[in-house]
Amino acid sequence: MLEKLKKIRDEFVKELGNTQDLDHLEKIRVKYTGRKSELGDLLGSLKDMTVEERREFGSKANIARNEIDDLIKEKGENLYHKQALTESFLDITKPGKKIEAGHLHPLTKVEDEIKQIFSSMNFSVVEGPEVEDEYHNFDALNIPENHPAREMWDTFWIKQAEGKNRLLLRTHTSPAQIHYMEKHQPPFQIIVPGRVFRYEALDASHEFNFYQLEGLMVGKDISLANFKFVVEEFFKKFFKGQKIDFRFRASYFPFVEPGVEVDIKLQNGNWMEVMGAGMVHRNVFNSVKYNPNDIQGFAFGMGIDRLAMIKYKIPDIRLFYNGDLRFIKQF
Ligand code: PHE
Repeated sequence: MLEKLKKIRDEFVKELGNTQDLDHLEKIRVKYTGRKSELGDLLGSLKDMTVEERREFGSKANIARNEIDDLIKEKGENLYHKQALTESFLDITKPGKKIEAGHLHPLTKVEDEIKQIFSSMNFSVVEGPEVEDEYHNFDALNIPENHPAREMWDTFWIKQAEGKNRLLLRTHTSPAQIHYMEKHQPPFQIIVPGRVFRYEALDASHEFNFYQLEGLMVGKDISLANFKFVVEEFFKKFFKGQKIDFRFRASYFPFVEPGVEVDIKLQNGNWMEVMGAGMVHRNVFNSVKYNPNDIQGFAFGMGIDRLAMIKYKIPDIRLFYNGDLRFIKQF
């Protein structure tokens, strides 16, 4: 027994002498003092010994065990100090750590800029909800149920009990026109920036989630000529020095009459649609209890993403949303 104890101790001392790091020291600690160590076995066998044997051997074994503990502790402290000293060595010639400041997303920047331009033309900025009801998103905008025009907007419906006036994610910012007119009387001019959702296939110019900016100007004699002036002013300011070709094209939206689409000419010669617009339909005025014989106005809805793509020559709308820092950091 005593020989075995001595052998364990000698092996331990030798191995400890060769230890150069804390990880290895921990392995040794487990090997020599752990529950499954040889010493552990020896201590475990005490209970089978006679009282005399136990007294003699037991005290020696405990002394050895304490000695091993102490040596491990001492070695551990030494190694720790050595390690700390090398790690904390201060190299004052090292370059400093660069602190990176974040910045706004390109879409946020463009939205802010658009808001500022319209504010300078005396438009007020208002907001509408992203979760809409069927009435505001469609019916009040002269898009009746089962009318084929509804298919112009592929809709994300919100799961709920069937019933009247179901909820949905707004497919455009136009329902904000209705909310505003329900609570205010003309004359006024507003813009409504916001996020919209469409259940449609993705490609370089279509996302199922994107941003629009609605505009609405209503008064006694607001005409399409006023709209043309406002868009031209807007383009001039938004694209600054860049020369920009745009065109109006007759088009159809159920909530305007007549309706137009505004396209911008891209560098490659193709036209890109950036907004829909027109004179507010009398049925829309009827839904908000305005008298269509007394007032008139124009409305438009532009795609913020698309304007940002043209301004910064971004080829694919999906770049705005995939979180790739190599893209985001360029702005
Ligand atoms: N809401 C239409 C769309 O999303 C755009 C639009 C707005 C057209 C206002 C005319 C007037 O496609």
